[in-house]
Amino acid sequence: MVFTEADIHARVVELGREISDSYPDGDLLVLGLLKGSFIFVSDLVRAVSRPLQVDFLVVSSYGMETVSSGNVRLVYDPETELEGKHILLVEDIVDTGRTLARVIDLLGERRPKSIEVCALLDKHIRTFLPHRPKFVGFDAPHEFLVGYGLDHAENFRHLPYVASLQ
Ligand code: IMP
Ligand code: MG
Repeated sequence: MVFTEADIHARVVELGREISDSYPDGDLLVLGLLKGSFIFVSDLVRAVSRPLQVDFLVVSSYGMETVSSGNVRLVYDPETELEGKHILLVEDIVDTGRTLARVIDLLGERRPKSIEVCALLDKHIRTFLPHRPKFVGFDAPHEFLVGYGLDHAENFRHLPYVASLQ
């Protein structure tokens, strides 16, 4: 096992505090990238003590593979207005950063006040990401991880901890 349920809970509470403290006044929209972030978002927003809104984006990247294909598609696009809002993109794990780089490009066109990233896990590869995620839960090993929202071919998302697939 890599990160236990207790490790994750403690870190999510800290992240919630960091997010609460670091945003100035103004609208904050937490945008979770589905499906991987669904559990993380629901725990994270409950640890944030400032007003916010929540929406989700569906991005398709890996398909059934365990390596990044580079085919990033927006499958669901939020109807929420982004203009003038602080956008916090929530991602389960940053690997190559391809998915986020593409999403940040697309959303940037809608003139938000800011776009930052909160990732539960960061593999520190990020070849494709121009900016580092502002909030990171844990540095991740270069292994394929599952649980707490992360899947392998849609399995294991429900595990309350994060583990290596092996
Ligand atoms: P990137 O575009 O290469 O950064 O890939 C990011 C996306 O790939 C994440 O949103 C995950 O859905 C998926 N991903 C990357 N690494 C892993 C992993 O170790 N386990 C499960 N999914 C992963
Ligand atoms: Mg995934």
